[in-house]
Amino acid sequence: MTHALVTGAAGFIGSTLTDRLLADGVRVTGVDMFTDYYDPALKRRNLEGALRHPSFRLLELDLGAADLTALPEVDVVFHQAAQPGVRASWGREFTAYTHHNVLATQRLLERYRSSTLERFVYASSSSVYGDAESYPTPETALPRPFSPYGVTKLAGEHLVLLYGRNFGLPVAALRYFTVYGPRQRPDMAFHRFCRAMLQGEPIPVYGDGKQSRDFTFIADAVEANVRAWRRAAPQGVYNIGGGSQVEVLEAIALLEERLGVKANLRFEPRPPGDPLRTRADAARLAADLDYTTTVSIGDGLAAEAEWARKLYGGAR
Ligand code: UGA
Repeated sequence: MTHALVTGAAGFIGSTLTDRLLADGVRVTGVDMFTDYYDPALKRRNLEGALRHPSFRLLELDLGAADLTALPEVDVVFHQAAQPGVRASWGREFTAYTHHNVLATQRLLERYRSSTLERFVYASSSSVYGDAESYPTPETALPRPFSPYGVTKLAGEHLVLLYGRNFGLPVAALRYFTVYGPRQRPDMAFHRFCRAMLQGEPIPVYGDGKQSRDFTFIADAVEANVRAWRRAAPQGVYNIGGGSQVEVLEAIALLEERLGVKANLRFEPRPPGDPLRTRADAARLAADLDYTTTVSIGDGLAAEAEWARKLYGGAR
């Protein structure tokens, strides 16, 4: 039976990927340390299904500090664990970003550098581009992050690629473009918006709300992971996005329809680190991984709204 290691297995993307792999008949060892960046109870909830599955095992450890010889030999590693959040990475918080995004990645690579892996897939980020050189942004654009978080994700990506080049490790890096959908982290825009609308509270909109993102539905991000495992080019770096370029205010209007609630907007200054625009050039994703994202923003927001309604109850 194929055996996968998923780090950050209790998180938004890690838990959804775990469920998908288990459904595909893959044995999964999940690693998570349940940091308090957001309520760990939500992370436990993400893993409820997996924990009932006989092919799943959970290891609770800090990749940046624990003895990693405890990790099993596996066929494939999906390294999703990270300290996330573009806007929270300033000041003293930066230590957590270097620990979880850089040191943890280096230690995991050391653990597996002599293993015969089919693939080491790294969760990178569109935040490596910052205010990008050009739009849509190809993987060959010069990365110039706009947030300290983006710097740590880029450093992690470079570590993955250089371990690949030095030790023949078959690695791939996936630059996710603002992933959303059921289980989305509570600090992310759509989750915050759904919760506020369902609880009758104002929605914080940064700047004028005309900033845009290339929003990527969770199932598309998960499928890209599976394809990267199977068929990435050596040291392949891929934009994972390309479907739905939408401004924040447009997304709120769609959520109003889906939730049947009028949003009460509260405009706030644009925080440092927040780029005005992201847009993926998805040509390499199509060419190498034979994939084009499939879920429209309307369908994806409907799925997230339905999930949020279950989590927070109906509108008042
Ligand atoms: C997201 C993730 O949080 C990162 O972990 C990931 O690396 C990144 O995507 C990526 O694509 O690389 P972000 O694009 O900031 O970062 O995602 P959201 O939190 O969903 O924000 C989307 C937009 O909504 C931003 O333009 C932000 O300005 C806006 N926003 C967010 C608000 O107007 N109000 C809020 O309360 C939150």
